[in-house]
Amino acid sequence: MADPVAANDLGAPDPAGVTGDAGASSDTGSPAGVTKPEPTIPAAASGVSLLSGPGAAGPPIRAPGAERAIGIGFSVAIVAALGLAVLYALGGQPQLEGLLLGLALGGIGFGIISWGKHLMPNGPYVQRRELLSSTRDDRLLFEESFERGSGAIGRRRFLGRLLGGAITALGVALVFPIRSLGPNPGNSLKHTSWAPGLRLVNSTADPIRVADIGVGGVVTVFPEGHVGDATAQVVLIRVNDQPVVTRPGRQYWSPHGYLAFSKVCTHAGCPVGLYQQRTNQLLCPCHQSLFDVSKGAKPVFGPAPRSLPQLPLAVNEDGYLIAQRDFLEPVGPAFWERS
Ligand code: FES
Repeated sequence: MADPVAANDLGAPDPAGVTGDAGASSDTGSPAGVTKPEPTIPAAASGVSLLSGPGAAGPPIRAPGAERAIGIGFSVAIVAALGLAVLYALGGQPQLEGLLLGLALGGIGFGIISWGKHLMPNGPYVQRRELLSSTRDDRLLFEESFERGSGAIGRRRFLGRLLGGAITALGVALVFPIRSLGPNPGNSLKHTSWAPGLRLVNSTADPIRVADIGVGGVVTVFPEGHVGDATAQVVLIRVNDQPVVTRPGRQYWSPHGYLAFSKVCTHAGCPVGLYQQRTNQLLCPCHQSLFDVSKGAKPVFGPAPRSLPQLPLAVNEDGYLIAQRDFLEPVGPAFWERS
C-alpha cells in the first residue's frame, strides 16, 4: 500500500481515502507471477485527486438544502411567469405585473447563482499533464464514488428541467405583450383612400372643375367621400394652363397645368401648404423644407429626405378633376425611409 500523499503528489490528504500508489503496479493477478503492467488511465479518471486549494480535495462543497432551495427558486419563477401571462391576458395590472416579473427573474437568478455556488466544483485546480497509471484499488474506489454520485446527477437533471421550465414559462409570458403593439397595420401605411376616377373635392366637399382655379392658384383637396382624411390630403396647384411634365413618364399627370402633391411632409408629417408661385416652390412651415414643384416636388432645401408623392390627375367627361389612381409611393415619413 503506497503512501496517499505520495499517490496524489500534491501535498494534500486524499479525500476519497485513496491509498494506492499512482506510480507503481500492485496487480499481481497475472499468471506465473509475471507482473503485467497496468493499463495507463488518465489520472483524472483514476479516482486520484489532482486538485489543490480550498474545496479542491473532494466533491463540490454543498450547503445543506441547496438543491431544495434552488428547486424552490425555479418553481417560484415558473409560477410567477405563468401568473404574469394569465394576469396580462385578463387585462393586466402594472404593479402586479412588475411584481410577478421580478419574482420570475429573481427566482431564475437565485437558482442559477446558487447552483453555481453550491453545486458546481470549486477550484482552483492543478492538473498534471503526464498520464498516470491507476491501481485496481483506485479503479474500484472510482467506481464506488461514481455510483454514489449518480443520485446527485439525477437531482441535477431534475433541477435542469426545472430551470428549463422556468425559462420557458417566462418566455411565454413575455410573448403576450406583443398584443400591446396594437392592430396589424397591414398594407394601410402604403396606400391612401385615393382610387381611380375619384373626384377631387375641397374642404366643403365641392368637386373641382377645370375652370375653377386660375394659374397660380392653390387649394387643399381630398378624395370625394373622404374629406378630412389626413393621409389623403393633397395640395392642388395650377402652375400653368398647359400640361406640365415634372418627371419622365408623367406626361399625362397634369391636365390643364394642374399638379397635385401629397400635403404630408416627408420629413415629420406637417402639412405643406405654402406655395411660392415665383419660384415654383412649396414650403413646409415646420422646418422650412422647400420642394421644387416643377421637378416633381423634389426637396431642394431643408431636412425633408424625399419628394412629395405626386397624384396623377385626369379630367372626366363632365369637366371635373379626377384621380387616375392612388399615389405610386407611400405618403409622409415612416418606416420605408429607415429600411
Ligand atoms: S415637417 Fe416638414 S420640414 Fe419638417
